[in-house]
Amino acid sequence: MANSDTSVLFVCLGNICRSPTAEAVFKEKIKNSQLRIDIDSAGTMGYHIGVTPDERAKAVAQERGYNFKGIKSRKVVLEDFEKFEYILAMDKENLRHLLEMCPAEYQHKVVLFMQYADSDVEEVPDPYYGGKRGFEYVLDLIELASDGLLISIASRFAVR
Ligand code: 4NP
Repeated sequence: MANSDTSVLFVCLGNICRSPTAEAVFKEKIKNSQLRIDIDSAGTMGYHIGVTPDERAKAVAQERGYNFKGIKSRKVVLEDFEKFEYILAMDKENLRHLLEMCPAEYQHKVVLFMQYADSDVEEVPDPYYGGKRGFEYVLDLIELASDGLLISIASRFAVR
Protein backbone atom coordinates (compact mmCIF):
# COMPACT_ATOMS: atom_id res chain seq x y z
CA MET A 1 0.00 0.00 0.00
CA ALA A 2 3.07 2.22 -0.07
CA ASN A 3 1.96 4.26 -3.08
CA SER A 4 -1.79 4.10 -2.58
CA ASP A 5 -4.34 5.66 -0.27
CA THR A 6 -6.03 2.41 0.61
CA SER A 7 -6.68 -1.11 -0.63
CA VAL A 8 -9.80 -3.16 -1.28
CA LEU A 9 -10.21 -6.92 -1.72
CA PHE A 10 -13.57 -8.20 -2.99
CA VAL A 11 -14.34 -11.80 -2.05
CA CYS A 12 -16.90 -14.35 -3.25
CA LEU A 13 -16.89 -18.14 -3.50
CA GLY A 14 -15.34 -18.90 -6.91
CA ASN A 15 -13.81 -15.53 -7.88
CA ILE A 16 -15.28 -15.90 -11.35
CA CYS A 17 -18.66 -14.11 -11.10
CA ARG A 18 -19.34 -11.60 -8.29
CA SER A 19 -15.95 -10.52 -6.96
CA PRO A 20 -14.25 -10.03 -10.37
CA THR A 21 -17.32 -8.02 -11.39
CA ALA A 22 -16.93 -5.89 -8.25
CA GLU A 23 -13.22 -5.48 -9.06
CA ALA A 24 -14.00 -4.33 -12.62
CA VAL A 25 -16.82 -2.00 -11.52
CA PHE A 26 -14.90 -0.41 -8.66
CA LYS A 27 -11.80 0.13 -10.83
CA GLU A 28 -14.01 2.02 -13.27
CA LYS A 29 -15.82 4.01 -10.56
CA ILE A 30 -12.62 5.37 -9.01
CA LYS A 31 -11.22 6.58 -12.34
CA ASN A 32 -12.64 10.08 -11.91
CA SER A 33 -11.56 10.36 -8.29
CA GLN A 34 -8.15 11.55 -7.11
CA LEU A 35 -7.83 8.37 -5.07
CA ARG A 36 -5.15 5.74 -5.57
CA ILE A 37 -6.69 2.48 -4.46
CA ASP A 38 -5.22 -1.02 -4.80
CA ILE A 39 -8.13 -3.19 -5.93
CA ASP A 40 -8.16 -6.98 -6.19
CA SER A 41 -10.54 -9.92 -5.83
CA ALA A 42 -10.32 -13.51 -4.63
CA GLY A 43 -12.45 -16.54 -3.81
CA THR A 44 -12.84 -18.60 -0.66
CA MET A 45 -12.78 -21.79 -2.74
CA GLY A 46 -10.03 -22.81 -5.16
CA TYR A 47 -11.98 -24.64 -7.91
CA HIS A 48 -11.34 -22.05 -10.60
CA ILE A 49 -7.78 -20.88 -9.91
CA GLY A 50 -6.18 -19.21 -12.96
CA VAL A 51 -9.46 -19.04 -14.86
CA THR A 52 -10.81 -15.83 -16.43
CA PRO A 53 -14.22 -14.53 -15.26
CA ASP A 54 -17.48 -16.26 -16.18
CA GLU A 55 -18.64 -15.32 -19.71
CA ARG A 56 -22.13 -14.44 -18.44
CA ALA A 57 -20.74 -12.05 -15.83
CA LYS A 58 -18.47 -10.51 -18.45
CA ALA A 59 -21.27 -10.11 -20.99
CA VAL A 60 -23.64 -8.16 -18.72
CA ALA A 61 -20.84 -5.98 -17.32
CA GLN A 62 -19.34 -5.24 -20.72
CA GLU A 63 -22.77 -4.03 -21.87
CA ARG A 64 -22.39 -1.35 -19.19
CA GLY A 65 -18.84 -0.47 -20.18
CA TYR A 66 -16.77 -2.39 -17.62
CA ASN A 67 -13.73 -4.41 -18.58
CA PHE A 68 -12.06 -7.43 -17.01
CA LYS A 69 -8.58 -7.06 -18.43
CA GLY A 70 -6.01 -9.06 -16.48
CA ILE A 71 -8.48 -10.54 -13.99
CA LYS A 72 -7.95 -14.23 -13.17
CA SER A 73 -9.36 -16.32 -10.34
CA ARG A 74 -7.29 -16.84 -7.24
CA LYS A 75 -7.95 -18.10 -3.73
CA VAL A 76 -7.83 -15.92 -0.61
CA VAL A 77 -4.47 -16.30 1.16
CA LEU A 78 -3.51 -15.47 4.73
CA GLU A 79 -1.39 -12.48 3.65
CA ASP A 80 -4.51 -10.82 2.22
CA PHE A 81 -5.74 -10.06 5.73
CA GLU A 82 -2.66 -8.01 6.49
CA LYS A 83 -2.31 -6.46 3.04
CA PHE A 84 -5.83 -5.15 2.39
CA GLU A 85 -7.61 -2.48 4.41
CA TYR A 86 -11.12 -3.37 3.20
CA ILE A 87 -12.02 -7.05 2.79
CA LEU A 88 -15.54 -7.18 1.41
CA ALA A 89 -17.59 -10.38 1.34
CA MET A 90 -20.40 -10.81 -1.17
CA ASP A 91 -22.58 -12.99 1.06
CA LYS A 92 -22.82 -14.28 4.61
CA GLU A 93 -21.25 -17.62 3.77
CA ASN A 94 -18.20 -15.86 2.27
CA LEU A 95 -18.10 -13.68 5.40
CA ARG A 96 -18.15 -16.72 7.67
CA HIS A 97 -15.39 -18.46 5.69
CA LEU A 98 -13.25 -15.32 5.77
CA LEU A 99 -13.72 -14.80 9.50
CA GLU A 100 -12.80 -18.45 10.13
CA MET A 101 -9.42 -17.99 8.47
CA CYS A 102 -8.76 -14.37 9.47
CA PRO A 103 -6.34 -13.66 12.35
CA ALA A 104 -8.03 -11.93 15.30
CA GLU A 105 -6.15 -8.66 14.79
CA TYR A 106 -7.62 -8.20 11.28
CA GLN A 107 -11.22 -9.38 11.82
CA HIS A 108 -12.48 -5.78 11.87
CA LYS A 109 -11.49 -5.43 8.17
CA VAL A 110 -13.88 -8.17 7.04
CA VAL A 111 -17.48 -7.03 6.38
CA LEU A 112 -20.32 -7.55 3.91
CA PHE A 113 -19.89 -5.46 0.75
CA MET A 114 -23.62 -4.55 0.77
CA GLN A 115 -23.02 -2.70 4.03
CA TYR A 116 -21.86 0.16 1.79
CA ALA A 117 -24.98 0.18 -0.40
CA ASP A 118 -27.94 2.47 0.13
CA SER A 119 -30.22 -0.58 0.23
CA ASP A 120 -31.88 -3.05 2.60
CA VAL A 121 -30.39 -5.96 0.64
CA GLU A 122 -27.65 -7.56 2.74
CA GLU A 123 -25.99 -9.93 0.28
CA VAL A 124 -24.94 -10.14 -3.36
CA PRO A 125 -26.46 -13.55 -4.18
CA ASP A 126 -24.59 -16.31 -6.01
CA PRO A 127 -25.66 -16.07 -9.70
CA TYR A 128 -23.77 -19.17 -10.89
CA TYR A 129 -26.70 -21.55 -11.37
CA GLY A 130 -29.14 -18.91 -12.63
CA GLY A 131 -29.74 -17.00 -15.85
CA LYS A 132 -28.87 -13.62 -17.30
CA ARG A 133 -31.34 -11.75 -15.09
CA GLY A 134 -29.50 -13.01 -12.01
CA PHE A 135 -26.24 -11.63 -13.36
CA GLU A 136 -27.89 -8.29 -14.11
CA TYR A 137 -29.28 -8.13 -10.56
CA VAL A 138 -25.82 -8.92 -9.17
CA LEU A 139 -24.38 -6.11 -11.28
CA ASP A 140 -27.08 -3.67 -10.06
CA LEU A 141 -26.17 -4.47 -6.45
CA ILE A 142 -22.44 -4.23 -7.10
CA GLU A 143 -22.84 -0.81 -8.75
CA LEU A 144 -24.89 0.41 -5.78
CA ALA A 145 -22.43 -0.85 -3.17
CA SER A 146 -19.46 0.48 -5.18
CA ASP A 147 -20.98 3.97 -5.21
CA GLY A 148 -21.39 3.83 -1.42
CA LEU A 149 -17.90 2.44 -0.89
CA LEU A 150 -16.34 5.21 -2.98
CA ILE A 151 -18.27 7.88 -1.04
CA SER A 152 -17.15 6.31 2.24
CA ILE A 153 -13.48 6.11 1.22
CA ALA A 154 -13.50 9.59 -0.37
CA SER A 155 -14.91 11.09 2.84
CA ARG A 156 -11.78 9.90 4.68
CA PHE A 157 -9.61 11.93 2.29
CA ALA A 158 -11.94 14.93 1.92
CA VAL A 159 -9.54 17.37 3.56
CA ARG A 160 -6.82 16.83 0.96
P1 4NP B 1 -18.89 -16.55 -7.59
O1 4NP B 1 -19.86 -17.63 -8.28
O2 4NP B 1 -18.68 -17.01 -6.17
O3 4NP B 1 -19.67 -15.29 -7.67
O4 4NP B 1 -17.62 -16.54 -8.43
C1 4NP B 1 -19.63 -19.00 -8.26
C2 4NP B 1 -18.71 -19.55 -9.14
C3 4NP B 1 -18.52 -20.91 -9.16
C4 4NP B 1 -19.24 -21.72 -8.30
C5 4NP B 1 -20.15 -21.17 -7.42
C6 4NP B 1 -20.33 -19.80 -7.38
N1 4NP B 1 -19.06 -23.13 -8.33
O5 4NP B 1 -19.77 -23.84 -7.58
O6 4NP B 1 -18.25 -23.63 -9.12
